[in-house]
Amino acid sequence: MNSPRNASQHNSSFLSLKNLSWQKFKKLSVHEKACLFNRDHRPYHTIYPQQFDRSILDYLCTLATYIRRIAKSRAGVDFLSGLLSHKRAMLYFTQPSSRTFLSFYAACQYLGLKPSEVRDAATSSELKGESGEDTLRTFSSYFDLIIMRSPRQGFAEKTAHLLSSTERPIPIINAGSGKDQHPTQALLDVYTLQRSFERYGGIEGKKIMFVGDLMRGRTVKSLSCLLTNYPGVQQYFVTDPRLQISKESLEVLDQAGVEYQVESDFDRMIPLVDAVYMTRIQDEWSQKDEDPVDISKYSFREKHLKSLQPHAIIMHPLPRRSEIAVECDKDPRAIYWRQVRNGMWIRVALIAATFRADEEIANYYRRNLA
Ligand code: NCD
Repeated sequence: MNSPRNASQHNSSFLSLKNLSWQKFKKLSVHEKACLFNRDHRPYHTIYPQQFDRSILDYLCTLATYIRRIAKSRAGVDFLSGLLSHKRAMLYFTQPSSRTFLSFYAACQYLGLKPSEVRDAATSSELKGESGEDTLRTFSSYFDLIIMRSPRQGFAEKTAHLLSSTERPIPIINAGSGKDQHPTQALLDVYTLQRSFERYGGIEGKKIMFVGDLMRGRTVKSLSCLLTNYPGVQQYFVTDPRLQISKESLEVLDQAGVEYQVESDFDRMIPLVDAVYMTRIQDEWSQKDEDPVDISKYSFREKHLKSLQPHAIIMHPLPRRSEIAVECDKDPRAIYWRQVRNGMWIRVALIAATFRADEEIANYYRRNLA
C-alpha cells in the first residue's frame, strides 16, 4: 500500500485555513475548500466528498481491509485499541441516528479513542440561546475530535472553519449535514462497491442506478460525486420526477465529464445495471401541506430479482421502509447488511488516517499478516 503522501496536494494548506476569514472562505470553490481541509494528502476535517481523490480512496479502502483482518485476533484488537487511547472524541448528533452514531462509536472504540456524546441540542446550552458554533467551540476544549450530524446545511463546514482558527484546533468529521452531504456514507458505499466488484474488474465502467428520494437524499449526492473518481462509471437516476436529482448534482457530473441518464422507468432499467442503490423517501423535509409522492413504482420487489444480473448488487444506506421487500434479504446480491459492517471498518480507517495512525497499522499488517 503506497502512502498517500506521494500524491501531489497542498501540504501547508492547514496554515492558510487558519488565517482565512469566513467571508473569504465562503467564496472559495468547493475544490479549493476541499484542499484546505486536507493535510498531507489525508483528510484532516472530513466535510465534503470532493476531498477524496482516487489515491485517497484506494488508500482508505486498503487500510480498512488491513484493519478488519488485524481485528480478527485478540492480539490485533489489542494493538488497534492502543493506537489512539490518548485521544477523546465527541459525537455531537443533533439529528436522529442510531446506525451511523453506533458505527462511529464502535470505530472509536476499536482505536481506543474514548467517545462521549450529545444527542439532542435541547440538552445543551443551545436551549439558553447559545449558538451552535459556541457550543462546539466549547466542546473542542475537552476533546480531540468532533464527529457531528446536524440538520443544518453547511454547519459541519462552518464548524471546521471556525475550529481551525482557534487556539486548540481539532478535526471535524461530517456524519451527515442537512440535505447536503454525507461523505462517510459515500466512503462506505465505495468500499462496498469495490469489494463487490473485486472479481469483476473493479468499480470502473460499472452502471450504477440510484432510486428513491434523489432530490433530498444526501447519501446519493455524496456517492454520486465520489464515483466521478472511477473512469467509465455511468450513473442512472431513476425516480418520480418530483424526487429527481438536483441540477447542482448533475453539474458536478457534467464538470467531471461523467455519463448519466435521468429516467423514470425502474423496471426497464433493472436488467441493465451492475448496482441498484435504493433510498427511502426523506419526508422529514416535506412541508405539512405537501402531497406525498407514491414511490411504490420505485420499490425493489421479489419479482425484480429475476431480472437483476447475476453479478449485480442491491445497496441501501438504511434505514429502509418498504422500498426493498424483506423477501429480497436472503438473496446474495442484497448486500445492505454487509454495507453496514463495511461502514464501521472504513470509519476506523478514516479516523486512523485523520490522526496519522495509518502507517503504524500498515506496518503491523506487513509484519504480522501479509
Ligand atoms: C442516511 C442519512 O442519514 O442520510 N442514513 C444513514 O446515515 N445511513 C439515509 C437516510 O436517513 O435515509
